[in-house]
Amino acid sequence: MSLRLGDIAPDFEAETTEGKIRFHDWLGTSWGVLFSHPKNYTPVCTTELGYTAKLKPEFDKRNVKAIGLSVDKLEDHHGWSKDIEETQGTALNFPLIADADKKVANLYDMIHPNASDTFTVRSVFVIDPNKKIRLSLTYPASTGRNFDEILRVIDSLQLTDHYKVATPVNWKQGEDVIIVPAIKDDDAKTLFPDGWKTLKSYLRIVPQPKS
Ligand code: BEZ
Repeated sequence: MSLRLGDIAPDFEAETTEGKIRFHDWLGTSWGVLFSHPKNYTPVCTTELGYTAKLKPEFDKRNVKAIGLSVDKLEDHHGWSKDIEETQGTALNFPLIADADKKVANLYDMIHPNASDTFTVRSVFVIDPNKKIRLSLTYPASTGRNFDEILRVIDSLQLTDHYKVATPVNWKQGEDVIIVPAIKDDDAKTLFPDGWKTLKSYLRIVPQPKS
């Protein structure tokens, strides 16, 4: 059965470009982004890995560790890493799992046989410090993912874990948010003493609390 939001992310041991890891121990108290690549030495994947490496300061700011996966051998990962640095201008600065036996890919249902029997789709799992899956995305091999969007979702998750708010369409860090419908106006007065704007009884807009 496929993994669902709120499930515990399955633990595993794997060889990576930064040595052998046990996933849960490696995550420690951080958030995690586990994402798969169809195959080494492919153009879209090369751009995704370079861009993710550039985002490291943004991941660090949010206490997030990134980890990639492809169903190729470790020695191929090392060779490909050189190409990523050369063409994308940034060296890999996070581990890439060598999953040649597809153990992790199968555990996370990253192979969709009607898309390809052999390659993974572009899966993304955002995992919180309690090891729960908080976001899962599946993209086709031909479409590179938007890693700024993944950061945006992490911002929303981290904010909404701390405050009784939800984030509206296309929300970005610093923009107004929505008071969750379960909060009655009387309680909202305590939680948001500076007030809010009521567009409908269920649609109350408030400045973003400090995250
Ligand atoms: C790519 O990463 O460029 C790619 C991989 C598999 C199929 C199509 C594109």
